[in-house]
Amino acid sequence: MSNFDDTGSILGSADERVASQQERFEKIRTLVCPDSSVASLKLAKEVAALILERQANGQTFVLGLATGSTPVPFYRELIRLHQNENLSFKNVVTFNLDEYYGLKRDHPESYFRFMHDQLFDHVDIPTEQIHIPDGTIPMESVYDYCLSYEKQIEEAGGLDLQILGIGRTGHIGFNEPGSAMESTTRMITLDRVTRQDAAADFMGVANVPRSAITMGVGTILKAKNLVLMAWGSNKADIVKEASEGEITDRVSASFLQTHHSAVFLIDSAASSRLTRFRHPWLVGAVNWDASMKKRAVTWLSSQLNKPILKLVDEDYNEKGTGELLASTSEAAYEVNIDCFNRVQHTITGWPGGKPNADDSYRPERANPFPKRVLVLSPEPMDAFIGMGGTLNRLKEQGHEISLLFQTSGNLRVADVAALNFARVTLEMAEAIAESGWEDQKRYAQSIINALDEKGEFGVDNQLVRRLKGLILRGEVRDAASVCGLEPGAVRFLDLPFYEEGRYRRFQRTESDVEIMQAVLEDLKPDMIFVTGNSGDPSSNQAIAFNCFAEAWSNFSDESWSSNCRVWSYRGRDGGFETHEIEMAVPMSPDQLEQKAEAIRKFMSTSDDDLSTPTRNREIAALYDALGMAEYEAIEAFCRWKG
Ligand code: GLP
Repeated sequence: MSNFDDTGSILGSADERVASQQERFEKIRTLVCPDSSVASLKLAKEVAALILERQANGQTFVLGLATGSTPVPFYRELIRLHQNENLSFKNVVTFNLDEYYGLKRDHPESYFRFMHDQLFDHVDIPTEQIHIPDGTIPMESVYDYCLSYEKQIEEAGGLDLQILGIGRTGHIGFNEPGSAMESTTRMITLDRVTRQDAAADFMGVANVPRSAITMGVGTILKAKNLVLMAWGSNKADIVKEASEGEITDRVSASFLQTHHSAVFLIDSAASSRLTRFRHPWLVGAVNWDASMKKRAVTWLSSQLNKPILKLVDEDYNEKGTGELLASTSEAAYEVNIDCFNRVQHTITGWPGGKPNADDSYRPERANPFPKRVLVLSPEPMDAFIGMGGTLNRLKEQGHEISLLFQTSGNLRVADVAALNFARVTLEMAEAIAESGWEDQKRYAQSIINALDEKGEFGVDNQLVRRLKGLILRGEVRDAASVCGLEPGAVRFLDLPFYEEGRYRRFQRTESDVEIMQAVLEDLKPDMIFVTGNSGDPSSNQAIAFNCFAEAWSNFSDESWSSNCRVWSYRGRDGGFETHEIEMAVPMSPDQLEQKAEAIRKFMSTSDDDLSTPTRNREIAALYDALGMAEYEAIEAFCRWKG
């Protein structure tokens, strides 16, 4: 099976590949690796070998490049190979997939700037061998320009290898839904989802350009080798569609199914929706342990739209789960009851454990009580989105809560919030007209000037970022108070990696881990809530999680940590699947409204992810369909065991 190991190579012809039974749903060779850094290192090593091979023959290597956070670890490794192992890029010619239209080349979000920051400025590639579509050319010249880009690729001998990421719309490059298989380099209008996904980079969706120049699907398919990388659970659905679905212009990555040597290089989170992992019984023999049974039965129930307790033997046979019954020699009735109970036991109104109650079948232990509960929120909104209702329950049930915001989130605050604050301060100062207000006046004016000078696509200076962070802090306190938390329960860590970075380019530092370590040492919690463990590794959430995980690993010998349970919640990075849920905390309509109210306190953020109540209602509906009690909404959690 094409699983990731050290012996096989990533690049190579799919013609040689014999897909195993397990992979028969996948129409593109798919390598699943434990994590993105291992995969990126291996790919970089193979690319380096190809570059060297060409060098030895006095030939060039034509490399197609992509932007976005996905290829960043691959670029970092290429840089390392150049700096530490003398890999030269003198014989490399590059062509980038795309560029936003209308951005100046020195704009921090232009792909021109991105590629120079992430790769070109750190290796010895000659400038004239770098090609990135020019997003600044006048509209009337775009058509001819695109033709000439195609021609340049041809004249270079065609792409030897094209690196790809994938957008949530299934786009490769910027080939949004509707792009034809034969399309060539051209101007394209960006999809609403794509612009939304780029909103954080541009500090607000309004700042995201509306169009781009991109290589076409046809241009990409002409490359001799194609590697599409995808990391994190956010990409799991689209990876499945592209690899297992029909070839359609609704998902431009699905056209890669027609390419003789396209390969998907993905991490386990991005692979989780592939049939071989999601429904392994459909592709081969499985070990029917308790968790596999739960997975299959909940799936069967939702497939047939029948509550668990109503499933009969024929249902199991019809949907390919007959082997489950055969292997255990149990009747459907027994399997149903067992699975029903397992799901039932995940439901609890006592997320911190119920004191003085038998906890053998409860998700959390009764003791100690009350618990010291640490809730980590990578960005201010995350904890409220993922567990606003549970926060309230924990508080009401008498636990000692520390709600810690790992990063300030100041990049998400809209300019207008800072501007309003500065204008009010200025007006106050002018109205009072006392000399004591001179400093405030100067401060407010400098904020207004900075925002003014920044222009449409500019970057905030530290003063503005600080103000934005403070505005968000105020909103956090309001939101926390809606959830019943006092100001003393809330702390802001302002981890340095965020303060010094931009979205998609954050890099964890030693001090981030040290700060997390000090927090754990100080609190010695009985229970911890985290998020980001299955996110895109370069996302703010995943980096914040990894800072925690690394700090946590230093306490493995301590008794408090072995008695502490870590629960993960999901905020922005998609929900859990029903079978994954290990704790389901129900919410009444009033509690759900209270949570929505907490989220509404975030008035300054340019984030429009306010669909949380809908997500919580969906989980409740799923539980209801399995035959559990009908709740208004549910917040879901899963144990993280390190
Ligand atoms: C943009 C780029 C794509 C990239 C996609 C995914 O839309 N034009 O080439 O694949 O983003 O970005 P990320 O890797 O950050 O998830």
